[in-house]
Amino acid sequence: MSELITTHPFNNDLRVALLKLNRPKVLNALTTDLLQEIVSELQRLEELPEVRCIIITGDDRAFAAGADIMKMAESTAMDQLNDKRLRLWKEFAMITKPIIAAVNGFALGGGHELSMACDFVIAGDTAKFGQPEINIGTTPGAGGTQRLTRAIGKSKAMMLALTGEMLTAREALACNLIAKVVPEVALLQETFEVAKKIADKSPIAAKLIKDSINKSQEMSLRDGIEYERRNFYLTFASADQKEGMNAFLEKRSPEYKGN
Ligand code: CAA
Repeated sequence: MSELITTHPFNNDLRVALLKLNRPKVLNALTTDLLQEIVSELQRLEELPEVRCIIITGDDRAFAAGADIMKMAESTAMDQLNDKRLRLWKEFAMITKPIIAAVNGFALGGGHELSMACDFVIAGDTAKFGQPEINIGTTPGAGGTQRLTRAIGKSKAMMLALTGEMLTAREALACNLIAKVVPEVALLQETFEVAKKIADKSPIAAKLIKDSINKSQEMSLRDGIEYERRNFYLTFASADQKEGMNAFLEKRSPEYKGN
């Protein structure tokens, strides 16, 4: 059985695809091969015009409990340096379609970093989030100290990464690490409802919003506002912008074609 299961269309909706991590015996621990599969699948979906939103999930017990410790335990610094993971994470970040992490159970270490690399997180109410690398004598290595600090601030990020403690879903929501908490059993349905809302919108606008918000994490406010303005101007080259505004004026629902 494959370590990554794609369901597309998801819930009979061609616009939504679901990627499910499938290494349940090791709580979906991430190997380089699994990360490669995720990235390859995202790249394939990126090229399918009908796909407008992608959900990544795990199972009830774990979204992903981190990088695979079994594979890492005896590795050397040079093994790590030469591993293609860093390139894969960069390729992950180049996907322009919205990606939602639907998290039940543990999202720890590299698994938590995977959820943070997605555009936002919806969690079941029993989910747990953390960067426990310090418990095994190492540090986060795929954005854990950087994205986490930007998301929740230095003090809380320090406490989490230095103690290895986990946040509950409610705590993660309270500090803006995640976007929404839903009952554990309803996670995929609730996430699908959100994905559908995104899929109803202009894919061009969605792509540009994702780009502008991601830039806000890397740019000064002044440069970010300039950047955002150019993306705003760009929408006026799209048929979707004309459709959206005309539909509003004609008091009908817009039909976006993504051009
Ligand atoms: N890698 C490999 N195997 C893992 C794993 C991981 N990250 N996490 C869990 N497993 C395996 C366990 O070894 C166990 O396997 P066996 O049944 O063969 O013994 C199985 O999954 C179930 O795990 P537990 O029995 O430990 O389940 P639990 O409910 O008692 O505990 C847990 C759950 C608290 C998540 C615990 O498994 C745990 O602490 N896991 C490790 C979490 C961690 O340290 N993650 C960070 C990894 S380093 C990293 O990610 C680096 C990076 O960012 C680049």
